[in-house]
Amino acid sequence: MPTLEVRDLRVRFGRTEALRGVTLDLPTGVTGLTGANGAGKSTLIRTLATLQRPGAGRLIWDGQDVTRRPGPLRRVLGYVPQEGGAYPHLTPTEFLQYMGAAKRLNARAVDAQIPALLDAVNLGGHAHRPVGTFSGGMARRVLIAQALLGDPRLLILDEPSVGLDAGERLRFQTLIREHARRAAVLLVTHIREDLDATADRLLTLEGGVIVRPGQPHLAAAPDRTPLVGLEIARA
Ligand SMILES: Nc1ncnc2c1ncn2[C@@H]1O[C@H](COP(=O)(O)OP(=O)(O)OP(=O)(O)O)[C@@H](O)[C@H]1O
Ligand SMILES: [Mg+2]
Repeated sequence: MPTLEVRDLRVRFGRTEALRGVTLDLPTGVTGLTGANGAGKSTLIRTLATLQRPGAGRLIWDGQDVTRRPGPLRRVLGYVPQEGGAYPHLTPTEFLQYMGAAKRLNARAVDAQIPALLDAVNLGGHAHRPVGTFSGGMARRVLIAQALLGDPRLLILDEPSVGLDAGERLRFQTLIREHARRAAVLLVTHIREDLDATADRLLTLEGGVIVRPGQPHLAAAPDRTPLVGLEIARA
């Protein structure tokens, strides 16, 4: 199964070095990513989603360098951004159709997939109601559903479960675990129980570099050697 290899990725915003040489592998399964506010998690996620161009470094998908030509990566990508939502006047069905078209998926295949996806996030009963009338947790679940359109081999999730109640959180965890049997999943979250329930391995970003999980806070030193993912035992 394909792996995303991230090599020495660097992103700078003016004087801020948001990513200072990130190296990691995303194989099949769930990779959990934690780190303090401002550590660079969303910057990393946006770069992997090919929305942010890296200043340096490489992205390799399935053995192919996609840094400059992101097409093959975009075709296999599902993405939940930290911010943003569906257009309020659209129903979830219409929004998923719209996203399917944006992803250039086959319209019939999308229509066939939508009911199962909405059921998977427990919105089957709200398929034809404008998203603008949804609660915060319901709107978040629409975004989770759109990320799964086309059965993506690479799923990157930036704090996807914020605002989900206990029952919906459990459903989300099950959905992610199920999907991760056939996809590389990167899950950014501050929610420990989501990591415990889903993550096969855990990474921590600190000051724009990957550090060991569980390490006490250290001032980010420019010469710190970035570490590649540590495996954590699954219960
Ligand atoms: N578009 C931008 N322009 C300027 N600076 C930015 C931009 N995006 C991020 N940064 C800076 O890059 C650093 C990393 O931000 P990022 O959003 O990646 O953090 P994060 O780990 O996702 O934090 P959080 O847990 O709060 O979501 C921060 O110092 C932030 O201020
Ligand atoms: Mg963020």
